[in-house]
Amino acid sequence: MVNYYMFFFIFLSCILVLVSGFSRNLPILAFDEGYSHLFGDNNLMILKDGKSVHISLDKRTGAGFVSQDLYFHGFFSASIKLPADYTAGVVVAFYMSNGDMFEKNHDEIDFEFLGNIRGKDWRIQTNIYGNGSTSVGREERYGLWFDPSEDFHQYSILWTENLIIFYVDNVPIREIKRTKAMGGDFPSKPMSLIATIWDGSNWATNGGKYKVNYKYAPYIAEFSDFVLHGCAVDPIELSSKCENTTPKTPSIPTGITLDQRRKMENFRKKQMQYSYCYDKTRYKVPPPECVIDPKETERLRAFDPVTFGGSHHHHGKQHRRSRSKLKDDDVSFM
Ligand SMILES: *[C@@H]1O[C@H](CO)[C@@H](O)[C@H](O)[C@H]1NC(C)=O
Repeated sequence: MVNYYMFFFIFLSCILVLVSGFSRNLPILAFDEGYSHLFGDNNLMILKDGKSVHISLDKRTGAGFVSQDLYFHGFFSASIKLPADYTAGVVVAFYMSNGDMFEKNHDEIDFEFLGNIRGKDWRIQTNIYGNGSTSVGREERYGLWFDPSEDFHQYSILWTENLIIFYVDNVPIREIKRTKAMGGDFPSKPMSLIATIWDGSNWATNGGKYKVNYKYAPYIAEFSDFVLHGCAVDPIELSSKCENTTPKTPSIPTGITLDQRRKMENFRKKQMQYSYCYDKTRYKVPPPECVIDPKETERLRAFDPVTFGGSHHHHGKQHRRSRSKLKDDDVSFM
């Protein structure tokens, strides 16, 4: 009996070590191996080592890059360092989308970084759309436990058939489980990875109160440690080339451990500033996957009265508009 428990304990420890150390042995790509320039000509700069890029926003343009392949499920990650000081109105996005292939029923999984006035920290927003569900935004917004403009931090998306997990460094910050009631709203078609920096003056900071100030331009976001560990898909036939053949890589997470779940709950209790589930102005009846915690209702109401029950900032609409603007500027995409 004792031996059995000991064995189990050692076994469990091994798993925890493997999982908690996942950032260390990730299969990292050079920029050119996985990504291409999307828009913004010289405002995308590949650094000498070929493994890092800068994208910048100035009066003329923002910039962005896109994965060469479409992916169906996988683990996608980049280390990002955001511009410092006054960054109100600046938006940096690291996201998956197939908006260019499916205009009416696209899917999306978003990390969005919203700049701020001097002395106030960046905020980070996550969201998903499935099959064109753009009328149902599922935004959550959080503070971070560090200054994301001071150093590189790893931002990752795990996307499987039934699960989406957003990670910051090794901490899962949000888990979205596919439920029956969500129907087609869960992303389920191949997507590209995209990173952009752009002018979100109309909604990014306090609902558009603070605009981008080009006196402080260029705003430079740095990207590194590219991981595109997914099932690459033929863009014409949309058939996957890697059904069941993706080798299991121990450094790639497949779900949340008990320890990580505890960290996630802690993070959400401390850092979440907005959740669509609690936004009565937008949703008289919360979307079906929402589980409402009365304590959380109170906490969020006290925390962020501007976005909680106040006027809606239309960032969904603004957002789509700037996405389609990106498309017009770019001829090389797809
Ligand atoms: C996705 O949308 C299309 C067209 O709007 C619809 O025909 C299809 O049934 C939807 N798929 C799912 C899984 O809901």
